[in-house]
Amino acid sequence: MFFITTAIDYTNGKPHIGHAYEKVLADAIARHRRLRGEDTFFLTGVDQHGQKVQQSARAAGIPPSEFVAGITAEFLALWDKLGVAYDGWAATTGQVHVRCVRDILARLHRDGHFYKAKNAGYYSVRQEQFLTDKERGPDGAFGPEWGEVVLLEEENYYFRLAEHRQWLLDLIDRREAERRPLVVPAARAAELRNAVEKLSGDLCISRPKSRLEWGIELPFDRDFVTYVWFDALTNYISFAGFTDDPDRFARLWPAIHVIGKDILAPPHGIYWPIMLKACGIPDDKMPTLLVHGWWNIGGSKMSKSAGTVVDPSALCETYGREATRYYLLADIATGRDADFSTERLVSRYNADLANSLGNLLNRTLNMAARYRQGRLGAPASADPLAEACASAVAKWDAAFLAFEPHAAIGAILDLLARANARVEESAPWKLAKDPSRADELDAVLYSLAETLRILSILIEPVLPSAAAGMRSQLARDGSVTIADTAWGGLPPGHVLGAPTPLFPRIETP
Ligand code: MSP
Repeated sequence: MFFITTAIDYTNGKPHIGHAYEKVLADAIARHRRLRGEDTFFLTGVDQHGQKVQQSARAAGIPPSEFVAGITAEFLALWDKLGVAYDGWAATTGQVHVRCVRDILARLHRDGHFYKAKNAGYYSVRQEQFLTDKERGPDGAFGPEWGEVVLLEEENYYFRLAEHRQWLLDLIDRREAERRPLVVPAARAAELRNAVEKLSGDLCISRPKSRLEWGIELPFDRDFVTYVWFDALTNYISFAGFTDDPDRFARLWPAIHVIGKDILAPPHGIYWPIMLKACGIPDDKMPTLLVHGWWNIGGSKMSKSAGTVVDPSALCETYGREATRYYLLADIATGRDADFSTERLVSRYNADLANSLGNLLNRTLNMAARYRQGRLGAPASADPLAEACASAVAKWDAAFLAFEPHAAIGAILDLLARANARVEESAPWKLAKDPSRADELDAVLYSLAETLRILSILIEPVLPSAAAGMRSQLARDGSVTIADTAWGGLPPGHVLGAPTPLFPRIETP
């Protein structure tokens, strides 16, 4: 089973293109696996508990449950708009999840993985966290970003993390040696290793109810709720049936987790494998972390105060689902950062989709209609595009297996360039004027139509709606698999449909 998950998004604010990129990335990878005939389960969802949500709800003057319901609805509407086809929805206030988190907490408590200890130190009231010397400025004082800082003494529960440090280092090395690294891409794996080397402290997994109510209560101490990361990370197993359906869990697990670089170390790269180990998950069932980079604006982080947060829902409304998905996957290499720009979105859409792909489809269908009433003749015995298609399919498949949609898109664009060049080189409009070259004309039209049929399969993970639209115009509706990318799927005599513009050019003033 191919089990893929994304991070679950905080419900303390509105969705932005960072959230959208990650879900579209996972969606495209899942769609590629489904094309390969792999049993696939794609889980995504929302992170609904915690301090930040409690604060946002308070600021909005409504109960947290009401606040998260509103934001959750916005995420659901966005995934619908973007065509993100998940199989499971992980919302952390759900009963199954809450039960699973409490079961795990009780079990780890019973097995001695927790201890209670008193922490005394400087505490930022605004950020609701204890401060260490790392947070001091060059003058030795805590900066204004921490607001009021008080001396506080508090008792909490701690999870014994540090004792698993060597185990985790060994796991990272073993997975590397087995050529199925714990973290991909490799640069991010090195980052995790460095962080694990430095691991020294344990993890505080509780918050006294006096300062955080919006969380899951500890099953062994009613005065506390659990820390939001302990709750959130558990979604990957709670929604896979860990406590309520062990057979299902055995079929699904382990997962590949698609996450952003900011939540690799410590949460996903340190807390999570150690939590899983404590829950009894064996070493060979540890998940894989696929770490992506960030979309920035002009080289900096998107920022609410600077007004640079890009709303993916507005992008869909202005440019459409396909243009938005295409840009988010074509213009960033997995693991690296990229700069978001609406100009780039428009120019890539116009060049790659409106011009290269849209025109090829339109011209081919128009010529077939004009010269042959849409009916395909016999193919050439050795078609120059057959080889190009086979090689594009192989590159596309390998790129997706390596979680690199931008490289898969590169293979598609190369094939499109070859097909467009074939139109120019063979000049069907000249062949049509010469009855003695009727076979040549048939061969070219077949070649182009067949290449377009194969292209409709290759674009499916990234552009599912356009793929269906293309196949409908080619009069080849219906579901497809990777096996259908073999050359020769269109039978001679097949009648193509009528052309309608699939990617109308985006005109900007
Ligand atoms: N709730 C936690 C994750 C818990 S997973 C058990 C969280 N939420 S988040 O809403 O802040 O981020 C969700 C995902 O979006 C993360 O993987 C994060 O890296 C990603 N992104 C947030 N901003 C981003 C960009 N600007 N660009 C790309 N991805 C970004 O973290």
